[in-house]
Amino acid sequence: MFDFRPAPDCPKPEAYRQLVDAADALTSGESDAVANMANVAAVLWDFLPDLNWAGFYRVIEGELVLGPFMGRPACIRIPMGSGVCGVAAKTGETQLVEDVHAFPGHIACDSVTNSELVVPVTRDGQVIAVIDLDSPRTSRFDQEDRDGVEKLAQILGSRI
Ligand code: SME
Repeated sequence: MFDFRPAPDCPKPEAYRQLVDAADALTSGESDAVANMANVAAVLWDFLPDLNWAGFYRVIEGELVLGPFMGRPACIRIPMGSGVCGVAAKTGETQLVEDVHAFPGHIACDSVTNSELVVPVTRDGQVIAVIDLDSPRTSRFDQEDRDGVEKLAQILGSRI
């Protein structure tokens, strides 16, 4: 049994250290990308409060295709450059969006989402996927979230 959870009231950087360690432990001995994304989505969901969606979109033949996630059913295909995920995938840059309603072209898969963090995962300099976190709370994500999820994305480049 795996029981990865941060201690209550754990400072956010420490919670991310534990989250990244848990994701590292779960994926280091496994070569199956779907299994690894599924376990990482579950770890994100367990560790991070105030989320309504946590998961992956993969770059497949020039568009984003839904990958393993936790949360409600979501849009399956997103063109590169569209919405928050598409912009992150096209530019290779993290998108930290405090209010999705102010983001031009935001794709509302779930009307409860108010803020979003999308971090590209790269391999050999190419974006291969994005990690997408959605929250019902406006301004849910900050620099510490960005740093933590970017660290996670670094280790996943060779594992998904
Ligand atoms: N809101 C995202 C689409 C993905 S769902 O939120 C899961 C976007 O604008 O890219």
